[in-house]
Amino acid sequence: MSRDSTARVLSVAFVLCVVCSILVSAAAVGLSDRQERNKAEEKKKNILQAAGLYEVDVSIEEQFSKIETRIVDLQSGEFTLEFDVATFDSRSAARDPETSYRISPDLDLAAIKVRSRYKDVYLVMAGDDLQQLILPVHGKGLWSTMYGFISLANDFSTVNGFAFYEHGETPGLGGEIDNPDWKKQWPGKKVYDEAGKTRIEVLKGTVEKNSQDAVYQADGLAGATLTARGVGNLLKYWMGDNGYKPFINKLKTAGLKQ
Ligand SMILES: Cc1cc2nc3c(=O)[nH]c(=O)nc-3n(C[C@H](O)[C@H](O)[C@H](O)COP(=O)(O)O)c2cc1C
Repeated sequence: MSRDSTARVLSVAFVLCVVCSILVSAAAVGLSDRQERNKAEEKKKNILQAAGLYEVDVSIEEQFSKIETRIVDLQSGEFTLEFDVATFDSRSAARDPETSYRISPDLDLAAIKVRSRYKDVYLVMAGDDLQQLILPVHGKGLWSTMYGFISLANDFSTVNGFAFYEHGETPGLGGEIDNPDWKKQWPGKKVYDEAGKTRIEVLKGTVEKNSQDAVYQADGLAGATLTARGVGNLLKYWMGDNGYKPFINKLKTAGLKQ
């Protein structure tokens, strides 16, 4: 076969393709464990950040040891032991007909259509005392589903921290939900009023500081009204009757030993 023959060119290209695909597949398979570990570590870091507990120079495992993970049945508001906390993934559960719940359109403030019937929640403990409760929340912005964590103090209404760890909103517009200046308004806000009504909201403009409702209100984002509305709506959904409210009410009456 001559060096420049068509058959030789094709066979060299074929061998090259096979070798490259073997290398890429081997790398994908070989690195998948590490990718899963990194993903789990990143999630723990986000939970710690929402709780205001993250320290750069302490290992995530050590910091996360103060946090207890539990799974909650959202309908009953009770903890469930049906799942292994180490492997439970509420996004996968939302795709499984056995564990998913279709949200009726009139209740679907977060515009997610379907959610898991079970959610992983995170308890920051000091001995036997619950100090903070960290809850995963998600909902539609303008372009994307935004995923975050909200951390509540042990009155289960005062926000300690609220941050998104995944979204596809436009940098400089909706992406300003990641701006530290916008995020710093959340600590101290209250989700529920004295009567237990879900009051938290994101305004279109800025909060009137002297208003008696200011404690339930957050500033919107100029030029990103739709993303900001999505944030307000997802909070209303997840903190409401179809979200974590039954669980929060159970925690208030029965504590952790329900
Ligand atoms: C390229 C492009 C990207 C945009 N990205 C966002 C976004 O991420 N979030 C958002 O709320 N609005 C975004 N907007 C603006 C919306 O289309 C809409 O004008 C805006 O939300 C209305 O906000 P305003 O009432 O504060 O002007 C984008 C607009 C353009 C042209």
